[in-house]
Amino acid sequence: MKILAIDTSCDETAAAVTQGRMVLSNVIWSQASAHAKFGGVMPSLAQRMHRERIDWVVEQAIRRAKTELGEIGAVAVTEGPGLAIALEVGIRKAKEIAQKINKPVIGINHIEGHLLSAAAKSDEAIFPSLGLVVSGGHTELVFMTKAGKYQILAKTQDDALGEALDKAARMLGLGYPGGGVLEKMAEAGLKKYPLPLPMAGRENIDSWSYSGLKTAFYRLVESLGGQEKLTRQQVMDLAATFQGRAFEHLIRVLKISIGKIDRPPSKLLVGGGVAANKKLRELLRRMGRETGLRTYFPYSKKMVGDNAAMIGVALGIRLEANTADEVFKEREVDRKPRLSVEQG
Ligand code: KG4
Ligand code: ZN
Repeated sequence: MKILAIDTSCDETAAAVTQGRMVLSNVIWSQASAHAKFGGVMPSLAQRMHRERIDWVVEQAIRRAKTELGEIGAVAVTEGPGLAIALEVGIRKAKEIAQKINKPVIGINHIEGHLLSAAAKSDEAIFPSLGLVVSGGHTELVFMTKAGKYQILAKTQDDALGEALDKAARMLGLGYPGGGVLEKMAEAGLKKYPLPLPMAGRENIDSWSYSGLKTAFYRLVESLGGQEKLTRQQVMDLAATFQGRAFEHLIRVLKISIGKIDRPPSKLLVGGGVAANKKLRELLRRMGRETGLRTYFPYSKKMVGDNAAMIGVALGIRLEANTADEVFKEREVDRKPRLSVEQG
């Protein structure tokens, strides 16, 4: 069955056509540059831009998949978590299309999409497995028993990893969202500055914390005379120092939380924008080897950040283990800005 998927949860207007775990098209129109001058996502601007772009993005998704609306068997749409007034645009469009073609519309959890994005195009068994989502809004380690049955094993107490990287990038004058630029800078820098490791020695509580690291980094930048005074070499070394600590903290907590699982699964699926980071991939692969986990990442950069193909694939994966009747049973689709992955 071909699925039309839509995601408007944050600042990417996205639509895709998928079939099972195959991705037939994946169209993403990013608004990032429009929000950059505000140093974060402006909800009302996001909503307006989603409204302006949603029809074009859906049309392109259908066209690039070389299909037509009549061949679509179901519409999948992100219900949450995300910005309420942004989610609303995708949900309204999904319902409108579903009604037009007389097919069901199914609400999908955005985090579930990120967690399963590494399974796109693969034909290996997925469950049970561990999932790690590292994005601008979430840092969560999840036990995935089967499609729709997820338990959070660890999560952040405050900032998400991507959010912390973005804030550090901003302190260095690297723009927004700065995770990718920070990575480039860090590649050319040395971890030479003192920066405390978050929760050092207290990592046994299944949670991350990035707000203290952020404050310490702010003080460090100030002690060097502030952003304007920094040389390019200093920016590169500061980027390497911050990213290094942020990832070290991620890995330490992960190892402890994974070590507590009675019968740990053999796979770790990683998704979310920060999973684009090469250094992080290397660290996770190494941790995987040490803990007996095979690590999986999305097959392309477009599957890593926000996109709609992961939403379609998540529905495709639900359809693998359940009958269409079970999956499509009547349920009102509505925006759920604070939806947890444990709610399915
Ligand atoms: O998954 P995503 O596109 O959106 C959310 O659902 O939040 O993640 C965006 C986050 C941003 O914080 C961005 O800076 C970060 O992913 N990011 C990166 C890289 N590319 C994007 N962080 C580190 N290294 C990268 N290469
Ligand atoms: Zn996301």
